[in-house]
Amino acid sequence: MGKLHFRDATLDDAAFYADVHSAVRPTRPTDPVVERYWWQQPDDTYIARRWVVQRDGRDIGVATFDHPAWARLREPHGGIGGELLPAERDRPTLDAVLAEIERRLIADGAKRIAVRAYEDDELRIATIEGRGFHTDRLHRRWMLDLQQNRERIATMADESRARMRSDGIRMLTLDQDADPEKYRRVWRLNEEAVQDVPTTLPNVDESFEDTMRWLRAPDMHDERFWIAREGDDIVGVSVLAYPPVRGVVGTAWTATARKVRGRGIARALKCETLMQAVAFGVDRVQTGNDGANDPILHINESMGYRPWVASINFLKTEISAG
Ligand SMILES: CC(C)(COP(=O)(O)OP(=O)(O)OC[C@H]1O[C@@H](n2cnc3c(N)ncnc32)[C@H](O)[C@@H]1OP(=O)(O)O)[C@@H](O)C(=O)NCCC(=O)NCCS
Repeated sequence: MGKLHFRDATLDDAAFYADVHSAVRPTRPTDPVVERYWWQQPDDTYIARRWVVQRDGRDIGVATFDHPAWARLREPHGGIGGELLPAERDRPTLDAVLAEIERRLIADGAKRIAVRAYEDDELRIATIEGRGFHTDRLHRRWMLDLQQNRERIATMADESRARMRSDGIRMLTLDQDADPEKYRRVWRLNEEAVQDVPTTLPNVDESFEDTMRWLRAPDMHDERFWIAREGDDIVGVSVLAYPPVRGVVGTAWTATARKVRGRGIARALKCETLMQAVAFGVDRVQTGNDGANDPILHINESMGYRPWVASINFLKTEISAG
């Protein structure tokens, strides 16, 4: 197989990371500018480590681990990643990459380890299962054809707007909102809602600065970030991420405050994001959610989203140091 060498990645390797992932999954490419942006951000809530995998002096793949700062967790957990250029991608090499990163994450202190694979990626699934991981959760993905569903979405948006008006809910984009507290309100709403996303590994609280970093990412725009207001409160958000270089436009996040659920606010906000995408000439949008998140699964299905390739979250809980 040839000996693998793990070289510490530098910021300039972010583009290679995006290229490797895009080559393996060309239908869902990774944006190099967005990737580089996240590599530049400080590590406080989440710690990330990245390497370039080399064989015979050539860069053949990438490897990563990340985890919430240990102080934020009762039981330390983290995720591993590793991918290889298609010409180098075989089971022994992928296995060796994942084994090494797993070892490094365990040495760092993790007691539970997560790793992902697309549901149609037999080689990766076999490699992961061969390493003793078990299936934890399914992350469903959906695609909406905006040309085919244009009328459906336009009609739904009209109905939703009427419902919001009669219910006293205002929908606008973040840039249109003059409230100096708007970002903090979005942060607080996100923190409440994220607790209701089905998950096995606990969600950790994010700082306000984390939320601002997310809002300032190159695929996010205040003028495309939809909020719902009821009086002084921001009670709902929905936003599509627009990768600047390559990738499929897709929902970054939709959430409503617990006290307003079931009033059609999430659907109404999603409709606004889609109407805006249609106006920009976007032809399709993706979204993804946990396979047990019934309300959002129901909304997506009723809007015309069709299942796209899902990913499987694997977990290993029997950690041995050897
Ligand atoms: C998912 C979420 C945004 C929905 O918000 P909401 O304001 O209640 O949404 P709406 O009122 O527009 O629509 C909810 C729909 O789900 C349906 N629903 C609610 N609970 C359901 C369940 N357990 N199973 C199936 N459908 C359900 C409602 O009947 C409604 O459908 P309808 O419009 O056909 O009547 C909200 O629950 C939330 O913030 N959850 C936590 C964050 C999250 O999971 N976001 C999605 C991450 S990808």
